[in-house]
This record gives sequence, C-alpha cells and structure tokens, in this order.
Amino acid sequence: MKKILVTGGTGFIGSHTTVELQQKGYQVVIVDNLSNSSADVIDNITKITGQKPIFGKVDVSNKEQLFDFLKQNQGIESIIHFAASKAVGESVQVPLKYYRNNINGLINILEAMKEFKISNLVFSSSCTVYGQPEKLPVTEQSPIQPALSPYGNTKQINEEIIRDFVKVNPEIHAIALRYFNPVGAHPSSLIGELPLGVPANLIPYITQTAAGIRECLSVFGNDYDTPDGTPIRDYIDIIDLANAHIAAIKRMEDNKQKQSLEFFNIGTGNGLSVLELIKAFEEATGVKLNYKIVGRREGDIEKVWADTSFANKELGWKAVVPLKETMLNAWNWQKKVSGIK
Ligand code: UFG
Repeated sequence: MKKILVTGGTGFIGSHTTVELQQKGYQVVIVDNLSNSSADVIDNITKITGQKPIFGKVDVSNKEQLFDFLKQNQGIESIIHFAASKAVGESVQVPLKYYRNNINGLINILEAMKEFKISNLVFSSSCTVYGQPEKLPVTEQSPIQPALSPYGNTKQINEEIIRDFVKVNPEIHAIALRYFNPVGAHPSSLIGELPLGVPANLIPYITQTAAGIRECLSVFGNDYDTPDGTPIRDYIDIIDLANAHIAAIKRMEDNKQKQSLEFFNIGTGNGLSVLELIKAFEEATGVKLNYKIVGRREGDIEKVWADTSFANKELGWKAVVPLKETMLNAWNWQKKVSGIK
C-alpha cells in the first residue's frame, strides 16, 4: 500500500480526498491542528471506508512538531497539502496570521520532503490567482493578477515558492491544483463542510437558510455584467474535486509529468450565476429559499469559470457529478448536522 500524507485531512476537502484515496488503495496519514475541524471526522471517514487513517494532531507551521511526527511515520511517498487558513475576509483583517500559517506551513512541508525523501506534492491552489480574467473561460495560461486578499496572495506566493524549490530539487515533483468553487458533501452524509459561525460562502449559507438557521440569504448584487446580473462561478462537486487529487498523484507516480511543477484548473467548465444556483438548489431539494437582493460584497469577482480541457486531457480527469446530486448531498448533510428528518 502506498503511504500518503494528507495535511488538513479533517477539513472539508481533505476529508473527502482521504475517503477517495483509501477507497483507491492508499494508506492515508493525516495531520491537522484541528483549528477549524474536529477529530470526529476521523471516525466518520472510518465509517465510510472501513479503514482508520493514521492521525496526528500536528500544526504544519510548527517545523519541530511536523518533523517529530514524520520521524515516527516513515515511508511516505507523497503529500497532499491542504492545511491552511482559508477565510478571505479574515485574511484582510489579520494578514499576518495568513502569511505565517500558509507560508511557513508550505516551507516546512518542502523541507520535510527533502529530509524524509518524499517525492510528490499536490498543492491546493485557487482560481483566485487569476483575479477577474479578461478572457473566459480561464486557461492555465491566463495571466496571474495581483491578489485581492492576503489569503489569495499566500496562494500566489506559495505557487512561486514551489516553482523555485523544484527547480533546484529535481527529485521532487509537484502539481498545483487551482480549484474553482468546491461545494457539496459526501453522499453518505457522514462528512461535509462545517463552517464555524456565520458562513461566508454561498452554499453553506443556502443550506443553513433552508434549515431555518439563517432567516434570509442575501444575494450580493444583481447589477453585474452577467445575463441575470448576479456573479458567475464554477461550482465543483467535492467528490469530483477529491478525485482530481488522486489523478494528480497518479500522474506523478507514473512519471507522466512534462514539467516538475504543473498547474491544473479544477472546475466543471460551466459557469452558474447566484440566482441559477439558488434555482438549482430549490429544484433539487423541493425547498423554497428565502432570499433578497442586497448590495455588492466588496472584493467579489464578477465572473469566472474554468477551461478544464488541460486537466481533462492530461490528468484523464473530468467533473462528472450532476449538479442536482451535489445540491442534494449538500442539503442532506445540512439536515444531518441540524437534526432535520
Ligand atoms: N454570495 C451571496 N451571498 C452569500 C454568499 C455568497 O450572494 O451569502 C455570492 C458571492 O457574492 C459570489 C458567490 O455567491 O458571487 C460565491 O461566493 P462564495 O463566497 O461562495 O465564493 P467566492 O467565489 O467568493 O470565493 C471562492 C472561495 C475562496 C476563494 C475565492 C477566490 O471560497 O476560498 O473563491 O475568488 F478565495
């Protein structure tokens, strides 16, 4: 069994990726500092797959902790690095927390790869690196634009750190996956997204409104240059997203890379407006949503969706989960969390 380290493995994307990895025969080792997730996730992963991942409560931005853990857990061939702070708004308020956690975390991971002879890295990047692209859909060659938040900046800086690092460490290979908007939950309703406090993202806000936890969803602006005036995003199902990581790991294991650092857009290729997404949720679940149009949210991009042809061709990966299923899974997870029958 190939051993793989998943940092941030109890988080939203990390937990779903762990499940898919285990189901495809990998032995998963998770490190997470549990700052934004719970150790219960480990039990729920185990319920789904019948395998308990090895777990260490480790903060990857603490080099000593990380190295101590890896000394006890040798034989890891690849790392998928999710562990990072990810709230865009908070990053504007507390930038140093983001620079410290996200950048130190990556540096420690890269140093660990050298020290413990770990060959392959998948890095969680984001479509945020493209800002508002001039041409849509965005390809991997679209220009990188100045970041709109410290969070976004850490993604850009980290891509550059990896680029510089692999240049002088040819034994190390890396793939940066630029995610579009990850949504949904595992069909078992055993794992899903668990935002702390008031959700900043659209889908958790929708499901919490449907569950009666929030009174009304605010749609941030309907005066954008889009067909219905609301912003357009590329919403990618969490299981599809998880599987993109496995395709990336396999590409490195099979030595199929054309460059030692490659970038892939991970989305569906379809743009949906906020109003279209609300409609899709209502149709899939039969639940009517209470929403109102309010002013724009500062820093929002007008429209962005992915050209996924490079990922489709080179990774042999494609988003396949129908939107209706994604919406139902997100809703079933919310019902489970809220104790709604
Ligand atoms: N939206 C609402 N009401 C809400 C929440 C969101 O109308 O209560 C709208 C937003 O204005 C936006 C769309 O829903 O048009 C999606 O918003 P999200 O916050 O869900 O997602 P973003 O596209 O703003 O953010 C995502 C990721 C971030 C990443 C960012 C890059 O969640 O991690 O893309 O632009 F940094």
